[in-house]
Amino acid sequence: MKNIDSYPNTRLRRNRKKEWSRRLIEESTLSSNDLIWPIFICEGKNVKKPVKTMPGIYRYSIDRLEKLVESAMNKKIPMIALFPNTPSSKKDNKGSEALNKNNLICQALKLIKKNYKDKDIGTMCDVALDPYTNHGHDGILKNNYVDNDETIKILVKQSLLQAEMGCDVIAPSDMMDGRIGEIRKALDKNGHELVQILSYAVKYASNFYGPFRYAIGSKKSLKGDKKNYQMDFKNSREALREVALDVKEGADFVMVKPGMPYLDIIKLIRDNFKIPVFAYQVSGEYSLIKNGINNHILNEEAIIESLTSFKRAGASAVVTYFAEEVAKKLR
Ligand code: PBG
Repeated sequence: MKNIDSYPNTRLRRNRKKEWSRRLIEESTLSSNDLIWPIFICEGKNVKKPVKTMPGIYRYSIDRLEKLVESAMNKKIPMIALFPNTPSSKKDNKGSEALNKNNLICQALKLIKKNYKDKDIGTMCDVALDPYTNHGHDGILKNNYVDNDETIKILVKQSLLQAEMGCDVIAPSDMMDGRIGEIRKALDKNGHELVQILSYAVKYASNFYGPFRYAIGSKKSLKGDKKNYQMDFKNSREALREVALDVKEGADFVMVKPGMPYLDIIKLIRDNFKIPVFAYQVSGEYSLIKNGINNHILNEEAIIESLTSFKRAGASAVVTYFAEEVAKKLR
């Protein structure tokens, strides 16, 4: 018998013939609900300073933050992520500034809590010491090695401080073993049982973080690399083990980072777990695409295409420096 499921009976181009038909068969779509917007904050008054490595991205002083929060709300962006640019005079080998009740992150959280407590916008903060250490590593160094258990003790304190200041989502990005469970326990014991944990469960030792490290001011200080705590980009089965542990320890969502070079990992986790997966389109990905557009090598639609690829792979949301610009278009 003739196979009817083949040309010329079947012509896949038929469904693509007109825009309305293409709209009917869309499998994934991007909306502003899918976006998390990272914002760099710095000291000073009325500062909006371009980040040299990331065209179109700025560091803002706290007094400029309200405008950004309002812009996010107007565009229906559900959450902003705050990242501090700590002056080097405040960095030391233990990252003590992370626990200062008046550091940049705490000031920002206090302001947002005061003005937008009952508004529909979430805040997310990284838990890790690299914005605060003079060696640029995410934890405490002992004989030049990031000490897991000593670091966790500080991360727990950092998490509690952020929760007290009103942070909605605590996002450990440090890759220490066992920190999710310890942070969850401490949050619950201190009355923060509704504070969510977004674990950067699968974070690779990546070459795509360079522009970010410049933005938060850890690039110059970083000694060596992060390969003994962040994952090797050759591995994917290990990602399943990382996620399994963090799910057991109480994570509410897990992150895969970077994004586009790791779409296979997003899909893998989506297919193997029920926990929501987020993707982080990191600074290097942003700058590549943005420079491509600025130099007329790519057209702007490349942004939406890159972000939709995360949805297709199975991500629930994407952390992206394009959030504000894209949300404007999606509305
Ligand atoms: C640090 C952290 C990094 C990023 C987010 N949190 C960099 C690193 O691990 O060195 C990278 C984000 C980006 O490149 O956009 N804990």
